[in-house]
Amino acid sequence: MADGGCVSGEEMSRCLGITRSAVWKNINELRREGWQIESSTKRGYMLKIPEDALSRLSPSTEFVGRNLVWTYSCESTNSEAKRRSDMPEGTVFAAEVQTAGRGRLGRSWLSPPGGGIWMSVLLKPELTPPEVVPVTLAAGLAAAESLEGDIKWPNDVVINGKKVCGILTEMSAEMERVNYAVVGIGVNVNTPDFPPELCDKATSVAIETGVSKNRRKLAEEILERFELYYKKLTKGGFAAIREEYRRRCITIGREVAVIEHGSTTRAFGADIDESGALVIEDEHGRRALNSGEVSVRGIYGYV
Ligand code: BTN
Repeated sequence: MADGGCVSGEEMSRCLGITRSAVWKNINELRREGWQIESSTKRGYMLKIPEDALSRLSPSTEFVGRNLVWTYSCESTNSEAKRRSDMPEGTVFAAEVQTAGRGRLGRSWLSPPGGGIWMSVLLKPELTPPEVVPVTLAAGLAAAESLEGDIKWPNDVVINGKKVCGILTEMSAEMERVNYAVVGIGVNVNTPDFPPELCDKATSVAIETGVSKNRRKLAEEILERFELYYKKLTKGGFAAIREEYRRRCITIGREVAVIEHGSTTRAFGADIDESGALVIEDEHGRRALNSGEVSVRGIYGYV
């Protein structure tokens, strides 16, 4: 069905070795999860691709998103990008559904159909591994501006104190050079609700603003801004985008809970340094935290 064709119940039951009624039950389960599956007695089952799906993504950019690999469903667009890292720089991998979406620090990322932007950008920067780290902050900045939200360091985008967007950057590198980096961007755009365990920290743009947005246009805007900041960064380092980043970052000037090596301590978010690290102050003094190693939360809520 993901190829856009019709598949009869009979064919599914034959291929999967299950009864017709089991096919029907599974289809209904998928429908409950948000998959739009149409059926006709003559032709069988067909997936309906929403009008604002990323299948026709076409940002006004020089190279980011000029090449697109879209599938209805995959495990994770980051994994797809890594698997096909031979594709040109700027290739965007996008999907309507991720069945095993991945988040930072080994967490999973809920990626149901219909409501979100799940996409990954393949990059091949001529930078050393430490120089690539702020690329993830550039993506957070691009997303925050497009979503009119705030940045919770390092790269969560929050609206009214709850998370609407997360970014997972992965890279393949040697000591001195980067083979490729994958910047995975997940945005809850029109997701109507969240499971109880996520409700206090996750939200969607539609829930917070009361208006649903066209996902394709929003994704194009994010990619356009990202390309701009990525170019600045590859020329001038994080310093080239630091001021814009600081203006949007709400972790600065707040009491935060720092979760490091499994233990939580309290600190004050003082600044973002020239490398993109969060400078905190606690009873031991001032120090910089790198984004790959720690998690930061608010004292009274998520931010
Ligand atoms: C986080 O905040 O923990 C990061 C979430 C990143 C989710 C995106 S969705 C597209 C890409 N594919 C993935 O499996 N993860 C990222």
